[in-house]
Amino acid sequence: MNNHFRKNIIFQKYEITRIKRENKNHYKSKVIWFTGLSGSGKSTISNMLEKILFENNINTYVLDGDNIRSGLCSDLTFCSIDRNENIRRISEVAKLMLDAGIMVLVSAISPYKKQRLMASNILGKDNFLEVFVDTPLNICEERDSKGLYKKSRCNEILNFTGIDSVYEAPDKPDIYLDGTISIKENIKKLIKKLHENNIIFFSMYS
Ligand code: ADX
Repeated sequence: MNNHFRKNIIFQKYEITRIKRENKNHYKSKVIWFTGLSGSGKSTISNMLEKILFENNINTYVLDGDNIRSGLCSDLTFCSIDRNENIRRISEVAKLMLDAGIMVLVSAISPYKKQRLMASNILGKDNFLEVFVDTPLNICEERDSKGLYKKSRCNEILNFTGIDSVYEAPDKPDIYLDGTISIKENIKKLIKKLHENNIIFFSMYS
């Protein structure tokens, strides 16, 4: 591709900066990135967490893989190149939201280690918190809330994560959640960790 045109793009600085927005908000924006298999509980946990943050006057938004894929990324398939592009776009949107002073929750399988490293590089390590929702494949498949594992087993869906497409679990996630325990327990752990990391300044269970 000819990238020659890029040299004519000059970044425009605006006076209302992220720092000004954060000072007004009384919290710092971060990206809390949930990774895990389909059906692991990422979206359910994100939903619960967002409700708690929202109730505590934190401006939030969830970038959910399924939702993003119905708009911004509706042109993308589940081959590895397209999955990388999906994660790149989600990361770039999350980066804009960081600048806007929003606490961003990402709920996307994001199956490859390299992709998550890319996300961390795009966002900046200090802005990025990797949360691994670790639910074994057999449990996700038992839950099969969307009926997609069944379709995958019947070859109606190809490249399904965990079945015929790889999921590379994080070795050292910032936060580890055991997806087989209750959502309540996981939210409790998550809030505690976010509090310990000075990302939030309230503590539900103290
Ligand atoms: S990612 O791999 O590119 O990060 P993403 O989180 O956006 O995936 O989308 C995953 C969602 O798409 C799943 O929760 C599921 O509902 C749906 N889906 C449809 N086809 C597939 C597939 N082949 N592999 C995984 N998820 C799929």
